Amino acid sequence: MSNLSRHTSPINGNKTIVSKTTIKITPQKPFYRPIAKEIEVFEHAYKNKLPILLKGPTGTGKTRFVEYIAYKLEKKLITISCHEETSSTDLIGRYIIKGAETIWINGPLTKAVKEGAIIYLDEIAEARPDVIVAIHSLTDHRRELFIDKLGKNIKAHQDFILVASFNPGYQKGFKELKPSTRQRFIAISFQYPSPQIESEIIENETGIEEALAKKLVHIATKIRNLTELGLTETVSTRLLVDAAKLIHSGLPKRLSVKVAVVEPLTDDLEITNALTDLCDLMI
Ligand SMILES: Nc1ncnc2c1ncn2[C@@H]1O[C@H](COP(=O)(O)OP(=O)(O)O)[C@@H](O)[C@H]1O
Ligand SMILES: [Mg+2]
Repeated sequence: MSNLSRHTSPINGNKTIVSKTTIKITPQKPFYRPIAKEIEVFEHAYKNKLPILLKGPTGTGKTRFVEYIAYKLEKKLITISCHEETSSTDLIGRYIIKGAETIWINGPLTKAVKEGAIIYLDEIAEARPDVIVAIHSLTDHRRELFIDKLGKNIKAHQDFILVASFNPGYQKGFKELKPSTRQRFIAISFQYPSPQIESEIIENETGIEEALAKKLVHIATKIRNLTELGLTETVSTRLLVDAAKLIHSGLPKRLSVKVAVVEPLTDDLEITNALTDLCDLMI
């Protein structure tokens, strides 16, 4: 066994699957264009220490919103990208073997609870059920985290808040959140912005000119309305921003739209061709 694997192996089980965690103290103000009253809602929820659920399709600004809010409230942001292997151990902590010793390492949730950071559980519905159980006592009046491996309860720091995101739109591998979990959160819904706002976002994010941003939004609106295509998810603001970045860096417009907007949406050749023709006409 190499030193490295000895240092990273948990005591129980020889496989460590740690979810991607990022800890951020955002140095620069992230650009966020408010869509409705979400900033106000968040600030009041924060004041009242209510957990917040951000609902909506991918690429609609949920992550950017949390980054912006963390900056605005001057809080550290700890993000966990949940996937089907994300367990409560990943969040809370584990014993590791270091040399001849066994030491306890706090997980990102425990750190956030102690330090008063914002914890962001991105795509919470993807995580294992024990994650939901682990956050129960944190998301009600108790505001405490139970660490079963230490037999300890920790009271959350007064600044701690839990934010989760959830995409209700998945049709395949549909993962729902139980009502008993959902009702622990106040919920903010994210949707595709109005054409005016979406175009502003694209311009700000990429520096392309207004007329081109408007064309991209127009394409998106058209594709979003083609519900008969049965796409699992349709064009997000993220895809438009990506297309605009490619155009801005000098890639031909049609090619940019094809690779950033059309191809990520589907693998069906017929739909790809139809959408490519449609986009070519519009840009
Ligand atoms: N309201 C918004 N303000 C600024 N940028 C936005 C907004 N909505 C979407 N974006 C852009 O779309 C991209 C994807 O947003 P993101 O927050 O990652 O989406 P989500 O977390 O909902 O999947 C961002 O990187 C940003 O460029
Ligand atoms: Mg996100």
